[in-house]
Amino acid sequence: MLSKKMYDVLNAQVNHELESEYVYLQLAAWSAAQNLEGFASWMKHQAEEERVHAMKIHDFIIDNGNEVELSGIDKPKLNIKSPVDVFRASLKHEQKITKNIHDCYTVALAEKCYRSQVMLQWFIEEQLEEEATAKSVLDKLESLKDSPSSIYWVDKELKKRGA
Ligand code: FEO
Repeated sequence: MLSKKMYDVLNAQVNHELESEYVYLQLAAWSAAQNLEGFASWMKHQAEEERVHAMKIHDFIIDNGNEVELSGIDKPKLNIKSPVDVFRASLKHEQKITKNIHDCYTVALAEKCYRSQVMLQWFIEEQLEEEATAKSVLDKLESLKDSPSSIYWVDKELKKRGA
C-alpha cells in the first residue's frame, strides 16, 4: 500500500493527466475548425499520449493495492486566437504538469517510497521531452510570425507525427 501522502499526490496526478488529455482535445478541435489538419492531428496524438500517462499512474496505484478515485475534469481554460497560441498553450500546460510531477517526486523522497521514485523518473524525463518539443515548435512559429505560407509549412510538418 502507498502512504496516504503518496497516494493523494499520485491519485491527483491521474486527474492532471486526464485534464491534459482534455486540453489537447480542445486544441485539436480549435485547429480542425481552422482547417489546420497537421496541428489537429498532432494535438490528437498528444491527447492519446496523455491518456497513456494517466493509465500508467492509475495502474501503479492499483498494483500497490490502493483504489483510484477519479474526480471531475474542468472545461479547459484556453484563449486561442492564432496557431502560435496553440503551442503557447501546450508549453504553458506542460510546464504546469512538470511542476506537478516534481511535487510528486518530492513526496516520494520524503516518504522514502522507492517504487514511486522509480515510476516517476520516467515522467521526469518525459516532461523534459514534452516541454522541449512544444518549445521547439513554438520557437519556429514565433520566428515565422504567423504568415500564411509559414503556417502552411509548419502544418505539413506537424502532420508527419504518427504517420
Ligand atoms: Fe502527461 Fe504532457 O504531460
